[in-house]
Amino acid sequence: SYVITSLCAGVRDGACVQVCPVACIHDAGEQFVIDPDECVHCGACAVACPVGAIFFASDLPEAHRDAAEFNRAFFR
Ligand code: SF4
Ligand code: F3S
Repeated sequence: SYVITSLCAGVRDGACVQVCPVACIHDAGEQFVIDPDECVHCGACAVACPVGAIFFASDLPEAHRDAAEFNRAFFR
């Protein structure tokens, strides 16, 4: 799944929400998050984000590895 990192916090641009074909990006307050069970891995959100806050899970930078669990936990 794609994952939104804390780079979103303080920016919250919202472009990702506009381009997601399955509406699986939700506002978690500080930042937006992706529902990993609904994401169809199209990558459109990652391209649209002006600050590059979105990564495919296996490509997450070391400092943002915990973002995958943070995104998933919002939907439990
Ligand atoms: Fe939505 Fe595609 Fe981004 Fe997944 S990768 S959250 S389906 S825009
Ligand atoms: Fe955040 Fe980027 Fe979306 S700043 S709201 S992840 S377009």
